[in-house]
Amino acid sequence: MRIPGLTRLRRLLKPTPPAGPPPELTDQLRREIRQSFDEASANEDDFPSTIDPRIQHVQVLLRYFAPLTGKRLLDVGSGKGRYARVILEQNPQARITALDISEQMLRCVQPGINKISGIMTEIPFANESFDCVYATESLEHAVDAGQAIAEMCRVLRPGGKLAIIDKNAEKWGRLKTNSWERWFDRREIENLLARHCRTVRSEPISYWEDVTPDGLFLVWFAEK
Ligand SMILES: C[S@@+](CC[C@H](N)C(=O)[O-])C[C@H]1O[C@@H](n2cnc3c(N)ncnc32)[C@H](O)[C@@H]1O
Repeated sequence: MRIPGLTRLRRLLKPTPPAGPPPELTDQLRREIRQSFDEASANEDDFPSTIDPRIQHVQVLLRYFAPLTGKRLLDVGSGKGRYARVILEQNPQARITALDISEQMLRCVQPGINKISGIMTEIPFANESFDCVYATESLEHAVDAGQAIAEMCRVLRPGGKLAIIDKNAEKWGRLKTNSWERWFDRREIENLLARHCRTVRSEPISYWEDVTPDGLFLVWFAEK
């Protein structure tokens, strides 16, 4: 049954993502973000240090970056390095670096993975230092996503591959968010990537292979 005005009412009640230009990543905001994740590092339930390798978020990275032997990878906003852990387990010859704003998160990154504290809008590596770069649920905290993407692309070598997994602005309101957090429109990130990369594509992604994506998570793939 169609109820007149219901669609409009739903639209009015739906939480809207923050509009307008991103706030500035001031020193104070950096401190706030770092402190928030330093504290969150004690919460293993919400910020786990491992991930089931069957989860599609890991599988798409493994497939996209293969073969990984001898490759240099950068995990941007790595947290405790749960993705890096699985990638290294399955590719012991890969050379992985975990970058995170939170030193407490980095403490949980397993041995065998390089660790560096820093922010993704000023990545502390020379141009073209990596073959593969990925960011999983971290770009949403960058504050300036355009600058973070420019930095990820700068440290990627020509022909290198970049993958970003993050949340869809259309689903804003589904989960609790921090004040600085942003979710993304599919085309917005594609356009930012296209400034630096030859090929760009994106698709919805679910956790499990046999479950249809519900639209919360998107993955963007780009080749420089
Ligand atoms: C939701 S966690 C995701 C961690 C990891 N990528 C994963 O999927 O398990 C977000 C991570 O991004 C880091 N982060 C937030 N803002 C950052 C920034 N500007 N530069 C680098 N890392 C940042 C946080 O410290 C946190 O570890």
